[in-house]
Amino acid sequence: MIRANDNFNRLPEAYLFSEVASRIRQYKEQHPGLELIKMDIGDIKRPLFPCVTEAMRRAVDDLSRAESFYGYGPEQGYAFLREAIEEHDYHKRGIDIGSSEIFVSDGAKSDLGNLGDILDPASSVGICNPTYPAYLDDSVINGMAGKPQAGGYSNVIDIECRPEDGFIPALPAEVPDVIYLCFPNNPTGVGIDRDRLAEWVEYAHTHGALIVYDAAYQAYVREEGVVRSIYEIPGADEVAIEVNSFSKTAGFTGVRCGYTVVPRRLTGRFSSGRTVSLNTLWNRRQSTKFNGASYVSQRGAEAVYSPEGRANVKEATDAYLENAAIVKEALAGKNIPVYGGVNSPYVWARMGENSWDVFDFLLREAQVSVTPGIGFGTKGEGYVRFTGFNTRGNTLKAMERILQKL
Ligand code: MLT
Repeated sequence: MIRANDNFNRLPEAYLFSEVASRIRQYKEQHPGLELIKMDIGDIKRPLFPCVTEAMRRAVDDLSRAESFYGYGPEQGYAFLREAIEEHDYHKRGIDIGSSEIFVSDGAKSDLGNLGDILDPASSVGICNPTYPAYLDDSVINGMAGKPQAGGYSNVIDIECRPEDGFIPALPAEVPDVIYLCFPNNPTGVGIDRDRLAEWVEYAHTHGALIVYDAAYQAYVREEGVVRSIYEIPGADEVAIEVNSFSKTAGFTGVRCGYTVVPRRLTGRFSSGRTVSLNTLWNRRQSTKFNGASYVSQRGAEAVYSPEGRANVKEATDAYLENAAIVKEALAGKNIPVYGGVNSPYVWARMGENSWDVFDFLLREAQVSVTPGIGFGTKGEGYVRFTGFNTRGNTLKAMERILQKL
């Protein structure tokens, strides 16, 4: 008998962004000729930086010559990229993370799903509400979430993020084994300051919990004191895994390259009571199940750290932040409660009672697609998420159309 994974019965029918894409497709089919402005999925609009495409071209040339050809690369990533990450994302910021703790991947999303392989499936999971939906879907698929029950899942501890707390989650009374945190946050767009994150690190220490920290939007941090990496907090390397990506930093949504930090000081415990390094387990997992990100994409990612690449990151992220500011200002002008958009390309707006109704309204009346807040959790109901990932011209046009209809 072919026995399918029952956990799929416990998932919502479609992944949020697939559902949004399908509704947009349907709308476009019914209204050919209408010009739609996409502000839904956080997909990059600017092309890759010239230094990145040049590096990738050189990498293709390497592969086309016998003397510089590479076959299988190291499962952990090439040293040239791991060392560049170590230097620029950690050492230069005064953070002691070494290249042997950095594992290059094909993107944050895969790693977030794969991390379940090194954890006990009976672990309870703390999930912020609202949050990026992959954390919950991954936990459902790997069995950690448990069974669906009224208001959630049997093994999921819901961590509410409330507007009155600036959407910073409060420490839960019931302690999860694994806690997913994402800052700057998707979808609310808020950053977290060091003191607040230090409380989470201390909580994880006190209760023996693991924090899976999604830092995919760190390149958008602009304000002093707002955290880019959880390892800015002393002791975080004993309680946290950090997942990162070149997608939102350098437009790699199509190229695919990211990295995950599993510090050497981070340990877990087997059911036998024996302590084990999670770095060792992750390395073991990657060696068996992953053959590394492609040489070409890793050379492209390395170029992101060149002087030209770093200037390009600043310029691109500044432009997306300016778009987010346009969105925020326009909506705030209509007295709509808006959040984020300062250290993040996302603007989170309270625009009604039912997120899908707001989605439909904006699509129908303004031909602007957004992401309905309910897709990020029950506490996202009534909100929608706008992205700054567009051209300035389209952002201005979208807001003009929306303001006319409000
Ligand atoms: C988003 O729109 O939340 C993200 O782009 C989706 C993703 O990164 O997978």
